Amino acid sequence: MMFKDSAELVFKEKIPKGRAAWRSPSNIALVKYWGKHGVQLPRNPSVSFTLSESYSETSIAYRPRSADDKDSFAFLFDAKEEPAFADRIGKYLQEVTSIFPFIDQLHLDIRSRNSFPHSSGIASSASAFSALALCLCSIEYQCFGTLEEDTAYRKKASYVARLGSGSASRSIFDTAALWGQHGEESASSDEFAIGVKDRIHEVFHSYGNAILLVDSGSKSVSSSAGHRLMEDHVYAQVRYAEARKNLLQLMQALQQGDTERVGSLIEVEAMQLHAMMMASRPYVILLAPNTLKIIQLIQEFRRSTHLPVFFTIDAGPNIHLLYPQEHRSDVLAFIEDVLGQYCLRGSWIDDRVGNGPIQID
Ligand code: DP6
Repeated sequence: MMFKDSAELVFKEKIPKGRAAWRSPSNIALVKYWGKHGVQLPRNPSVSFTLSESYSETSIAYRPRSADDKDSFAFLFDAKEEPAFADRIGKYLQEVTSIFPFIDQLHLDIRSRNSFPHSSGIASSASAFSALALCLCSIEYQCFGTLEEDTAYRKKASYVARLGSGSASRSIFDTAALWGQHGEESASSDEFAIGVKDRIHEVFHSYGNAILLVDSGSKSVSSSAGHRLMEDHVYAQVRYAEARKNLLQLMQALQQGDTERVGSLIEVEAMQLHAMMMASRPYVILLAPNTLKIIQLIQEFRRSTHLPVFFTIDAGPNIHLLYPQEHRSDVLAFIEDVLGQYCLRGSWIDDRVGNGPIQID
């Protein structure tokens, strides 16, 4: 049994009331998770940097559920009702009730907000589901005294976050996380992520990550539909093998502080992700014309300055520009003078690698 027997997590006497709240960041994948099976299990292992400025804040006020309660939970996003989000959260709560059976005895008043604009095209599922999972684990801790130890707490939070969104499993950890079983990574698992900060050179602990907002249009393919495109993809097996190989090389380069090697590996990963989409049936193009323009400009910038400034891209058109803090002023000037004009109304988010979730009042 991986966690405490869930049958014990029910209130036998008085049902308490209380509140749990977490701020949890988004993360940026360096080796990409693309392709899943079973209950949110990844087809290949992935590694990410945890972000700092792009986060969700979620609180859950809980109390005994009464016969008068029409609904088992209430949900407000930015203090407003969002039926589409509420729907997804309702399904999620049902799913995790087998892990936290006390959910059935409570009424949950859930409120959430993001630090980044809703329309910015940033995937919020990683920060949102990690924050929610952390709150549920907090309720378990407050009511049953379990999960006292930090490692156990994070393991369960990562497991539960994964059920909401695969990439959310990685947001639970300081600096960097690895999710997905890899034969040469002994503690790795498909069911939860592990923190790998202690294996990462200091230069990356505060690495810069500028998110260049190229297009805010809602995604033309949801992540779940995207993952499905890998199911009978002709290149699927090759891609999964590549991800495994890239992961080992990346972990080594991260350890050595080799910014050039890390940079070239993350660019290859981003391009392979999009190559997979373009070679799917039906094919999907999520890169925008300005994404390609910005890629070219980054390549030119590197050629002329010899600075280790590289990019990665998730399932959308936005570019994450990764750079060592010592080159921050050059990178900011590059964005202001050159790249900004290819961003949506010049907008970008000044983010960096961060320390992971924190509990809030
Ligand atoms: C391209 O975690 O959003 O960002 O598990 O279906 O919620 P679901 O998918 P999601 O997929 C993320 C895909 C990616 C790569 C990554 O973050 O590893």
